[in-house]
Amino acid sequence: MNYINTLNYGNKLLKNNNISSYQLDSELLLAKVLNKTREEILINLKDKLEANKFDKFKKLLIRRKQNEPLAYIFRQKEFWKYNFFVNKDVLIPRPETEIVVDEVLKLTKNKSPKNFLEVGTGSGCLIISLINERPNSRGIAIDISKKAIKIANFNAKMHHLENKIKFINIDVDKLNINKYDFVVSNPPYINKIDLKRLDNNVRQFEPIIALEAGVDGLKTIKKLIFKSKKLLKKNGKLIFEIGENQEFEVKKLLMKNRFYINKICKDIRSIPRVIVSTKI
Ligand SMILES: C[S@@+](CC[C@H](N)C(=O)[O-])C[C@H]1O[C@@H](n2cnc3c(N)ncnc32)[C@H](O)[C@@H]1O
Repeated sequence: MNYINTLNYGNKLLKNNNISSYQLDSELLLAKVLNKTREEILINLKDKLEANKFDKFKKLLIRRKQNEPLAYIFRQKEFWKYNFFVNKDVLIPRPETEIVVDEVLKLTKNKSPKNFLEVGTGSGCLIISLINERPNSRGIAIDISKKAIKIANFNAKMHHLENKIKFINIDVDKLNINKYDFVVSNPPYINKIDLKRLDNNVRQFEPIIALEAGVDGLKTIKKLIFKSKKLLKKNGKLIFEIGENQEFEVKKLLMKNRFYINKICKDIRSIPRVIVSTKI
């Protein structure tokens, strides 16, 4: 078997199982098995593959054809400029959440030390990226999931930030320590009905606790706003991601809790996705 035959085998199997990115996925899976880049594979298509490598490739194809996301198969995902370990205990970091990083960096250009709180840290990708970019700052990151906190700790160690970020397994409701300059979050925001409509690869593999937020999808956002009101310093910023069609309701909640709305940032599909607000 050479690379081209192997890729054809993979393409066909994934295509027959309705994986729309079948070609790219086959190439990436083969690259993983051979520990090469995708480009190295594509310029050496006639190279031969050992039988044990083909078996390994087939095992990965089986996982992918059952809709398992590539990030879980590879056990890693890139976010901002960094790599993070991920598994089924944490949400796969999404590009939309990078808007939160971008907004915080714009507001901290002078790089003076800041005190951050992240609510719902998952893999730790958000707080770790922020502290990597603003090394004079410190952070506390919380998550209701014990398993997520374990992964976030692991990622912080991988980035040599274990002394700058403290991870706590706690519900945002119960947190009562410190005062913060920034609260950041990508909270769960999907309502019970929309959850059933999510893509198979999300619904079957990603943790429900990271996605679902009650009947209206606002359960965690309400807690986040209420808690931020108490924990932010005066003029502190609350910057967080929201779901589709939540802009109006969330703005109302923020105003009711005496936040000034600085900015609504849209994602690449022009959907309002991140709110920047200030405690007044
Ligand atoms: C959408 S995920 C975000 C993970 C990560 N920050 C990211 O952007 O990839 C939301 C996270 O919030 C956590 N979570 C849900 N409810 C929570 C609560 N009441 N208090 C603290 N964390 C919560 C979940 O366990 C999950 O890890």
